[in-house]
Formats: sequence, structure tokens, C-alpha cells
Amino acid sequence: MTSPRILFVCLGNICRSPTAEAVFKVRARRAGLDVEVDSAGTSGWHIGQTPDARSIEVGESRGYSFAGQNSREVCRNDFFLFDHIVAMDSANLEALTALCPPASLHKLSKFLSFAPETGIEDVPDPYYGGNDGFTKVLSLIESASDGLIQSLQAKRD
Ligand code: 4NP
Repeated sequence: MTSPRILFVCLGNICRSPTAEAVFKVRARRAGLDVEVDSAGTSGWHIGQTPDARSIEVGESRGYSFAGQNSREVCRNDFFLFDHIVAMDSANLEALTALCPPASLHKLSKFLSFAPETGIEDVPDPYYGGNDGFTKVLSLIESASDGLIQSLQAKRD
């Protein structure tokens, strides 16, 4: 079986989805799950930029690497290339739904649907807030990553 290809999507592709990409790679590898992971933004506001320094700081403090990441915008080809396209919040899920060819709609989901125990539906946008927002985002992303890994493993088994 080929490795599942997963695309994480937020607004700017500099805070939440790069964190999801970094976290998911490490936790999937630890769980013995082979995956291909990428991230993108529904806006093109930060194209080419490296992830936000605050995301990198809190992420690296928990052992995640953001090496090689640069912001890009979601494109039509993504809906064909990826098996799972995972939005960080409802607004990004709506934007993806509007762009998505009907035959690929089943690939879309919201990340925190894999972490119902958090009681939170959207990974909050930390961009205009303080550092504790970034720490909170990281913890939510760790929980949702583990939930998504379990779901993929259940499909594989
Ligand atoms: P992200 O955060 O969607 O998690 O990458 C944001 C980054 C930039 C902006 C908004 C959210 N912005 O308004 O530029």
C-alpha cells in the first residue's frame, strides 16, 4: 500500500499548518506510520516565507523541526495529489470546500475532529496574539495528530 499523503491547511501557512506538518511527521514516524506530509495556506499572503518565529520557537522546544518549510498557497492540483486535506478551522474548511472538485470532497476534514476530547472545534489563529497562544496551538495539534494517526492506522490494519 502506498503511504497516505496528507496536506494540512491554514490561512497563512506560517503558523498552524507548518506546525501540524512538523508535529505530524515526528509523531507518525514514532508510531511506525509511513506518510507524506505537506502544508499550504488558503491565502497567498505569505508565499515563500519561512514559518513564524514564534511557531518555530515553541515547536523546537518540544523537539519538532521546521527545516525546509516555506509558505505556499493551496492549488487545484492538491485536491488530486493528496489523500487527506486537513483544515485547521471552519473558515479554512469552507474555503477549501469552495475550491474542491466534487470528486475530492470526501478528502476534506477539520483537524480537531480527530481530537474530540479537547472539546474544541477549531485550532485558533495565534498570529495576532501572545506566545501562550502558540503553545496552546501546539498542544491542540499534538492531540489531533495522534487522533489522525490512530484513524489512519485503523484504516491500514
Ligand atoms: P496561520 O496564521 O493561518 O496559522 O498561518 C496566520 C498567519 C498570518 C495571518 C493570519 C493568520 N495574517 O493575517 O497575515
